[in-house]
Amino acid sequence: MRVPATSVRDMSQTLQRGPVSGTAVKKSSRRKPFLLDLYSTAVGKKYVMAITGIIGVGFIIGHMVGNLKVYLGAIEHNGEQHYDIDIYGEFLRELLVPILPHGYALWGLRLVLIGAIILHLHAAWSLTILNRNARPVKYQGARDYQVANFASRTMRWSGVLVLFFLAWHLADLTWGWLNPGFEYGAIYRNLDASLSRVPVAALYIVANIALGIHLFHGVWSLFQSMGWNNPRFNRWRRAIATGIAAAVVVGNVSFPIMTLAGVINFQPLS
Ligand code: HEM
Repeated sequence: MRVPATSVRDMSQTLQRGPVSGTAVKKSSRRKPFLLDLYSTAVGKKYVMAITGIIGVGFIIGHMVGNLKVYLGAIEHNGEQHYDIDIYGEFLRELLVPILPHGYALWGLRLVLIGAIILHLHAAWSLTILNRNARPVKYQGARDYQVANFASRTMRWSGVLVLFFLAWHLADLTWGWLNPGFEYGAIYRNLDASLSRVPVAALYIVANIALGIHLFHGVWSLFQSMGWNNPRFNRWRRAIATGIAAAVVVGNVSFPIMTLAGVINFQPLS
């Protein structure tokens, strides 16, 4: 039996993928690439929030654990005394040498982190706009309003605070603009010089508590966004979110407190 040419064309059109958003599109309009099409939906933006959030949490835990080396003080390295954390900083810059030139692998990781931060912010911003457009009229009952928005409002202020902290932090400990007598690579010295200033120590404490609140809600909701809400491990969600947030807050807040207490105390090494 001969199949008419028109029905073959119809079949091939039905087999082609439709837009993720499922909205009617003009026949002439160009189809977006799959990932962009997915990103234009609320579900896609939530995936991006969750995946970039996981990258951020991974960095924050790794960074905190690495910074704990400050408590190891000075050690002998190549016949000389050095602060252990300074050697660790150099190790990060030397990562994958000689396969890659000095500092390249670290820059690769930095680019992943910068990309994740930009996407996280963009997805957060456009989800806020989507939600606003979906509900242009505010909730009538104050109670409903509070329940529905507590997490998202907390996420917004804690996220903004962490972002401002990050800008300060880079200017303080990476570029040294805000750090008295900053010395490139002298991490122990720079940390002590920065965190011995009471207002700066207070800023670090407040910002890291805000980060803990952000991480708690973020880790909790990323299970939902990724669809990992099987009843078998649902009860672990709160424990995982609490554990990660508590470990980061305790570890990070310890640095300014221990500097003010004199436990972290830079002395020139011979
Ligand atoms: C009290 C807590 C913290 C301490 C003591 C600390 C310490 C440091 C130090 C010493 C550096 C410079 C490292 C180097 O020169 O090699 C640094 C860099 C950095 N920190 Fe932190 N940090 C803390 C919290 C945070 C938090 C909460 C974030 C993120 C929200 C963060 C993000 C970064 C980033 C992105 C860099 C730049 C890394 C690079 O360019 O290689 N830090 N931190």
